[in-house]
Amino acid sequence: MNFADSEIVNSILMEHGNHPVDTPEQADIILVNTCSIRDNAEAKIWNRLKFFRSVKRQNRDLTVGVLGCMAERVRERFLEKEKLVDLVVGPDAYREIPNLLAEVEDGRKAVNVILSLEETYADITPVRRGGNGVTAFISIMRGCDNMCSFCVVPFTRGRERSRAMHSIVDELRMLSDQGYREVTLLGQNVNSYNDEGTRFAELMYQASLVDPEMRIRFSTSHPKDFPDELLHVIREQKNLCNYIHIPAQSGNNEVLRRMRRPYTREQYLTLLDRMREIIPGVTLSTDIITGFCGETEQEHQDTLSLMETVRYEMAYLFAYSERERTLAHRKFEDDVPQHLKQQRLQEIIDVQRAGALERNRDEIGRRHLVLAENQSKRSADKLSGRTDTNKVVIFDRKDFKPGDYVEVVIQDATSATLFGEGIQVSSIREFEPEWLQV
Ligand code: 5AD
Ligand code: SF4
Repeated sequence: MNFADSEIVNSILMEHGNHPVDTPEQADIILVNTCSIRDNAEAKIWNRLKFFRSVKRQNRDLTVGVLGCMAERVRERFLEKEKLVDLVVGPDAYREIPNLLAEVEDGRKAVNVILSLEETYADITPVRRGGNGVTAFISIMRGCDNMCSFCVVPFTRGRERSRAMHSIVDELRMLSDQGYREVTLLGQNVNSYNDEGTRFAELMYQASLVDPEMRIRFSTSHPKDFPDELLHVIREQKNLCNYIHIPAQSGNNEVLRRMRRPYTREQYLTLLDRMREIIPGVTLSTDIITGFCGETEQEHQDTLSLMETVRYEMAYLFAYSERERTLAHRKFEDDVPQHLKQQRLQEIIDVQRAGALERNRDEIGRRHLVLAENQSKRSADKLSGRTDTNKVVIFDRKDFKPGDYVEVVIQDATSATLFGEGIQVSSIREFEPEWLQV
């Protein structure tokens, strides 16, 4: 989401006569887009800002600013205590950046962290620099109203609001014209997308019609309100990817209750069964927080057993990190010792790896339609791409190039990556995976 936000900021800056440079030393303005979700995300930013302070010593005219969630959270400390930055801009105030830069030029410190009920930046066309020209993101909504007890996002990004469907569809069309082959629609909870009564399943359907050879993904879905209609649309439309990110956070009902996640383990598992039943071959991923306030060994075991039951294709696993202002910070004690959080995290990682490895080994021998994205990091002779189901595949470059849909036969697998051989260039419309025929 920050990636998408930075593209909006690029656009605003370039509209106002700025242009990008390649190194911090060449810059007159450096803006750091920040995340507050866990303490380690913030720690990285503090280090980065200290580095920029050293750059500033060489260039007195340099303006350094902080954007995004941390701006809202720790503005005083940025400006007054640590004097690291000149400019602090919250996630709903990016349009003000040119004015705020002018204030800085006049010798003032400039701050705008006001959150908005309406801002969606719908009319700003993001400037996508440094991407691969194949895959892109579109933010379809901002903010979050869910108030999970551990999460700072509702405080830093404000109330939930949806961007108008027509502006999303227009941007999809533009991306298709520019040759993009895959777009991920982003929101904290896309299931609550609501453009004056138009819901997410309809948006996905309309998105699928823009270009039958452009893949559409989405993230993130909250288990509390995932409609069957959306599953049917994904099943019917070939260019809607068969991959769902559906964070459980925990496998224990008491922990879910403390987390203010309004579903039970049983309801969650029923939903996942329905996903697998309606969309054959669908892959699933989750987010899990381990060591949340009061988590007992038994509660942790329930999360492990959830992971064993589901065997997610992918998972994003985190140790709980207490955030100020959240309900958990006010009401509960962060009482699982750090070493135990880390130990439980490792156990969860191990279970996840084992499950994903098994699932990936099942792929050996199957043909997949892989969208080639980049040269592989390890070898210039290889390309890296992803299956419709969001699995990374590495294969010999041959004459294939980024942006091609390549039919690939899978030959080997680790828990995180598939390896295969590219057979021929194909297309979404032509490709029929034989292993999915039932
Ligand atoms: N500590 C650890 N992980 C968190 N997440 C959100 N807040 C916290 C926190 N305080 C995780 C959740 C969420 C993902 C984006 O980040 O799992 O789904
Ligand atoms: Fe945070 Fe919960 Fe909203 Fe996700 S749904 S952003 S975890 S409050």
